[in-house]
Amino acid sequence: MANKYYIKTFGCQMNEYDSEKIGAVLSKKNQLTSTSDPNEADLIILNTCSIREKAEVKVFSDLGRFRELKASNPNLRIAVGGCVASQEGENIIKRAPFVDLVFGPQSLHRVSDLLNQREISGKPQIDISFPEIEKFDHLPADESTRSSASVSIMEGCSKYCSFCVVPYTRGEEISRPLEGVLNEIVRLTFNGVSEITLLGQNVNAYRGVMSNGEIADFSILLEYVAEIDEIKRIRFTTSHPNEMTDNLINCFKSIDKLAKAIHLPMQSGSDRVLSAMKRNYTSIEYKSIIRKLRKVCPDISLTSDFIIGFPNETDLEFMSTLNVMKELEFDYSYSFLYSPRPGTPASYIEDNILNTIKQQRLEVFQNLNATQGRKYTESMKGTVQRVLFDHYSVKKKDTLLGKTDNNRVVEIASNSDLLNKFVSVRIVQAEEKNLKGEILA
Ligand code: SAH
Ligand code: F3S
Repeated sequence: MANKYYIKTFGCQMNEYDSEKIGAVLSKKNQLTSTSDPNEADLIILNTCSIREKAEVKVFSDLGRFRELKASNPNLRIAVGGCVASQEGENIIKRAPFVDLVFGPQSLHRVSDLLNQREISGKPQIDISFPEIEKFDHLPADESTRSSASVSIMEGCSKYCSFCVVPYTRGEEISRPLEGVLNEIVRLTFNGVSEITLLGQNVNAYRGVMSNGEIADFSILLEYVAEIDEIKRIRFTTSHPNEMTDNLINCFKSIDKLAKAIHLPMQSGSDRVLSAMKRNYTSIEYKSIIRKLRKVCPDISLTSDFIIGFPNETDLEFMSTLNVMKELEFDYSYSFLYSPRPGTPASYIEDNILNTIKQQRLEVFQNLNATQGRKYTESMKGTVQRVLFDHYSVKKKDTLLGKTDNNRVVEIASNSDLLNKFVSVRIVQAEEKNLKGEILA
């Protein structure tokens, strides 16, 4: 029987969160302990991502490596979870017959039962079903002792952007009941958590049922979370432009605890491309949201996602993206080369743009992005930031690290009195990644 598990996580914050939960189930139900060394594991889990082809290819190359470990340790079990599992199901076993378990993001709470079934039957087990939101009733409580934690508030996505696999791998949007979310956060505060990140594919599509049967939207959820005294800072990710209601925008003014930062994927600056992506907003509509956000919260930090090289994107359309980047002055943007995903509508579009051109555009975009990011960081010099110092640096001796509202790491000289506390810090040095600060009395 297995003693140690090793989890490798691919992809987004949701997957990071899911991996923690998979680990918690295995520790609690199967008494396994975690290891960071696959060579000493009896159970290897790949929590996979299929958002772009590269991530998926990596999974199969890793599986090839782990197969060799199995040759020397026949008791080793190999599991594939996450979005590739959800998309490929039993094809994974066909392609890699040495895999023992396949489970999706919505059935991860069953990983322990699947493992037991595998031992009893001697056969690979597959469960990629979508049993609604039951998973949250079956997951052990978070027992970590960090001061910052994440809570998943909704799952899946019903937006069906033409390029994206998420609605197929994680299912349609479904929200956890309000009380379940609040109870989980309160429990986390008992362990010393003071910063909470609300997670979901589209957090602002949240529609959680309340105990009186009414539905709470995301802005109401934020108000409730802000009422929890021990929670001092609230973050959320990811939000969708089409669900940015005025109520939600106003929360950046009315809720002090809300970090002054928002990640709002734009994907393209061209209306033709946005429409082909089925994003359901125009460039002007997106800009108007940003204008409103900046009106209620002038120093809000803005980050975004862009896809470069969507099928048949012209030079002019790409220029529109660059122009929007300059105009909106994003703090930082994540950019991805378009990757056709099996089964998505965009994957059927015949594409006339050469890969070399797409690569060049990505480079141009990323250079501009880096320049803007540096400018933003430099502009933070001299400002006062609210930082939660939550861990010591591994690389630099006697250094305490924490994050600002806009996710910049700030370092100060070690001081155990400040660990896990929110502190006002003046930024005295601002370089590429790290900021140095001095404590204000
Ligand atoms: N829920 C988020 C997106 C989650 S996916 C939203 O509101 O849009 C994270 C990012 O991956 C997306 O914002 C998009 O920029 C990128 N992405 C998704 N599918 C992709 C594909 N097929 N090719 C390249 N990038 C993709
Ligand atoms: Fe994907 Fe669009 Fe949803 S990018 S996650 S389908 S909002």
